[in-house]
Amino acid sequence: MFLLGVAGMMLFAAVDAAFPWLAKGFLDAAFTERDARVLGLVPAGIVVLFLVRGVGDYLSVFALGSVGRQVIKAIRRDVFARYLELPAGFFDRHGVAPLLSRLTYNIELVAEAATTAITSLIRDTLTILGLLGGLLWLNWRLTAFALAVSPLIVGLIRVTSRLLRRYSTRIQSSMGDVTRVAKESLESQRMVKMFNAERQQSAAFERVNEHNRASYMKLITVRAVSNPVVQLIAALGLAAVMFVAIRDIAADHLTVGEFTAFLAALLLMTTPLRRLVNIVSPLQQGIAAGESVFEILDSPAEDAGGSRRVARARGEIEFRDVTFTYAAEKGEVLRDIRFRAEPGQTVAIVGRSGSGKSTLVSLLPRLHDPDRGAVLLDGHDLREYRLADLRRQVSVVSQDVMLIEDSIRNNIAFGMPQAEPQAIEQAARAAHVLDFARELPGGLDATVGERGALLSGGQRQRVAIARALLKDAPILILDEAMSALDAESERFIQEALAGLLRGRTTLVIAHRLSTIEHADRIIVLDEGRIVESGTHAALIAAGGVYAALHRMQFNV
Ligand SMILES: Nc1ncnc2c1ncn2[C@@H]1O[C@H](COP(=O)(O)OP(=O)(O)O)[C@@H](O)[C@H]1O
Ligand SMILES: [Mg+2]
Repeated sequence: MFLLGVAGMMLFAAVDAAFPWLAKGFLDAAFTERDARVLGLVPAGIVVLFLVRGVGDYLSVFALGSVGRQVIKAIRRDVFARYLELPAGFFDRHGVAPLLSRLTYNIELVAEAATTAITSLIRDTLTILGLLGGLLWLNWRLTAFALAVSPLIVGLIRVTSRLLRRYSTRIQSSMGDVTRVAKESLESQRMVKMFNAERQQSAAFERVNEHNRASYMKLITVRAVSNPVVQLIAALGLAAVMFVAIRDIAADHLTVGEFTAFLAALLLMTTPLRRLVNIVSPLQQGIAAGESVFEILDSPAEDAGGSRRVARARGEIEFRDVTFTYAAEKGEVLRDIRFRAEPGQTVAIVGRSGSGKSTLVSLLPRLHDPDRGAVLLDGHDLREYRLADLRRQVSVVSQDVMLIEDSIRNNIAFGMPQAEPQAIEQAARAAHVLDFARELPGGLDATVGERGALLSGGQRQRVAIARALLKDAPILILDEAMSALDAESERFIQEALAGLLRGRTTLVIAHRLSTIEHADRIIVLDEGRIVESGTHAALIAAGGVYAALHRMQFNV
């Protein structure tokens, strides 16, 4: 396709470049030699030439456009694929909005550079080279005078390129900010309303919007200045040529036809030249955008794990002196964590908020890896397993349930497209999803809205439990899975969970201690350390932190 496009451009450029040469023949034949044949040939020639030029034009625009859109699609696909593969830590450091803006806005700029700019770059360079060849052939001496100004043009393009690249980078990052503020305000529109924060958010938006405009104006200024300057430089060249040419004509060194053709070629050159200067801007924008896009593509993907395969683990978990930090300056979030859970056991983790409970369980599906020590499944370091195999062993039901804008059915079967309809319905029944789905139009096929907005907190929770039931993994993580529920939903969900726990190794994080009294072991976490561990009865008898927490909750 690209070669076809280049062929089209060559056709187009050839016609343009041939034009002055044909004009010379015409003028000399018509006026100097007074040849009668030109009367018919010239008008026919014009039509044929423009037809050929039109075909070239069509080919180049269509083929290059097609190449450009393919490029965009491919880059978008690759960037999106890389977004899916980046480790969880990457998203702790990078906001989602700038990443979205790279996927939508920046990639379009790459397309612009890859199509319009490349088309012009190739076509106009070819036209200029063709015309230049003609000029040299017509009169090399005059051409040399015209070319004297070319270093000025090259210098100008260099300077503007540098400035344009700088401003483009700024514009693109400000587009990320615009996306961020808009996304935040839209996603939390209820909060904005409740706090009368419309003004505050407008002001925040105004700031990023203004920064975007101001950065753009700098780019526009450079663009606006560069054009007249190029024209001026071209005029200098033309002036030099005229000076020499007029003297040559007077001295009979040059015919009128030669001179007219020369002048025509020179003037024809100014249009592609102007276009070439004009594409510096989209080209530099595209390069700046390309840098931001390739930064993503070059970011290392998540470690795919080892080669150990496992269909279904027994579910023996061991934390062996695990220490973990999110960022060096924030200190250790987990310190020397050491405990074991036998297959089928339930281990409860309690502790103040911020003590590291969620972090601890996030190590199991390898959302993060320990800095020191190891987490073992069935006696093997998690890092030995193929990542996909490992994650198939773990189900998570957490406080915030992630739902996609789709039916309840597809949310339950998320990531399990091969699930049988009966299995989905069975999971939905066991998790008490059917209880509320029955009331909805379409039942399980009712849509849940964006991020599950059309469901209540308890209903979302039940969908998450159905998901975990369907996934049927040997390890289950419940991270404050019930903290947002009222007593009635909790009773339902307790029942559903009891079914879910059976035969699985479970790590359960709960604030309400009543829900974990029957755990095989309770671990009390404080500032990332295990400060107590044992059964409910043992911990109460010991009269430590857990006993104090328990007294507080039950007022005994
Ligand atoms: N993604 C993250 N990046 C950096 N720090 C984090 C991240 N998640 C949690 N933290 C920090 O780690 C500590 C433990 O958090 P967390 O494990 O969520 O506690 P808990 O679940 O016990 O409330 C907190 O101080 C929190 O600020
Ligand atoms: Mg937590």
